[in-house]
Amino acid sequence: MAKNVGIVAIDIYFPPTCVQQEALEAHDGASKGKYTIGLGQDCMAFCTEVEDVISMSLTVVSSLLEKYGIDPKQIGRLEVGSRAVIDQSKSIKTFLMQLFETCGNFDIEGVDSVNACYGGTAALFNCVNWVESNSWDGRFGLVVCADTAAYAEGPARPTGGAAAIALLIGPDAPIAFESKFRGTHMTHAYDVYLPNHGSGYPVVDGKLAHSCYLKAVDACYKHFCQKYEKFERKQFFVAEADYFVFHSPYNKQLRKSFARLLFNDFLKDASYLDEASKEIFAPFAHLSEVESYGSRDLEKAAQQVAKPFYDAKVQPTTLLPKQVGNMYTASLYAAFISLVHNKHSSLAGQRAVMFSYGAGVTATMFSVKFNEGTFPFCLSNIAAVMSVDKKLKSRHEFAPEKFVETLHQMEKIYRAKDFMTSKDCSLLAPGTYYLTEVDSMYRRFYARKDKEGSSKNGNNANGH
Ligand code: ACO
Repeated sequence: MAKNVGIVAIDIYFPPTCVQQEALEAHDGASKGKYTIGLGQDCMAFCTEVEDVISMSLTVVSSLLEKYGIDPKQIGRLEVGSRAVIDQSKSIKTFLMQLFETCGNFDIEGVDSVNACYGGTAALFNCVNWVESNSWDGRFGLVVCADTAAYAEGPARPTGGAAAIALLIGPDAPIAFESKFRGTHMTHAYDVYLPNHGSGYPVVDGKLAHSCYLKAVDACYKHFCQKYEKFERKQFFVAEADYFVFHSPYNKQLRKSFARLLFNDFLKDASYLDEASKEIFAPFAHLSEVESYGSRDLEKAAQQVAKPFYDAKVQPTTLLPKQVGNMYTASLYAAFISLVHNKHSSLAGQRAVMFSYGAGVTATMFSVKFNEGTFPFCLSNIAAVMSVDKKLKSRHEFAPEKFVETLHQMEKIYRAKDFMTSKDCSLLAPGTYYLTEVDSMYRRFYARKDKEGSSKNGNNANGH
């Protein structure tokens, strides 16, 4: 059986177009600091009419295969997680098959997993389970988490974003899953959902979404700790992990969520909490669970106790979620990429606990261990290939007016037919796929900006 199954290579793509949250805040008439301090967001990526979830997925998969020198024949399973599926029947995975057909590899299992922001984690678990199973044929699994998140005018608008991430899954990985430690919480709620396919904008109950997320954090942590205790025969506390990586709708949500873990540890009488922290928590010890979710005083006290732990264990994961926004299925893995980007030289031997959340509600807490040893790609190679700083620095900032105009344009073409795009790929990096046309039968066509920088139009994903 394959050992140390996990992530052996990673790449990320996000659109080169973005809007600064400070400028958007002023444009929307929100009070100064609401988006930047109140929500904790810096910048937000968005697609223009030439990009969508399929083009971003094509870009990130081709980039990963090329940059790491992976022969497409070496992929035996391809799973996609996305909330932004464009077609109700034809999967994004089938579009991606164009990248494998040219080398004659049609023998690739897997389809799309859909449930809000959780689909990427479902896709990841499918791949990890496959490599760990009797049906594994020795090839790599490939997971794609891709989404565009855009909201109607109103309080949720600053919590959009867009990105696609590809994760190569195999044995003997520098990032290995501790597969036995998984705590899941699934239930029914109408927090964020998408009943109206006309606009592509979700219906949001922001306050309910916030409390559903917190309850899921608590429940998953409880189940995760139980699994850890069952297999390791000792209690799990926040101190057992070096980093905590959260699905990040906006930064404030994870500050509050991480603080809940500290409160949970206090209720379990954790010895790593000092007397001063215990005194801060003491007045809240007898609150019922329901009361604890409504207590603003507890929220503040928990964030106060959590602050030094947050700075050490969570802050290194926040770069991309704050800069790119909520990437739905890609959000958790963008936070993870931020950690690898910031700390790759010191991660060996450390543990990261991951919290995946999808509205509706679906959530799992799980963990990975960073391994030392000889791998085809070590953590520093992975950080270099992803070149996060370069990608962030080469973005083009749009004024809020132009961002809003772009969203209006996107509303008109969302699931429309019979139109050509401008094919203007001047802002896209070389090697980026882009949408050229949706014909009268809703068939979508993509081309690739060639690697030297000029554009090639064509009728299929390879631009021929
Ligand atoms: N300066 C500093 N802070 C400010 C300012 C200001 N000028 N104005 C407001 N704030 C703070 C508020 O105090 C509040 O912080 P707090 O919660 O610590 O008190 C925060 O900013 C947000 O302000 P609110 O008025 O409470 O919230 P608002 O009505 O604007 O909505 C919300 C925010 C709910 C996050 C909204 O953007 C939303 O619904 N987003 C989408 C929901 C979502 O993504 N949920 C997550 C799970 S599902 C998923 O990932 C899709």
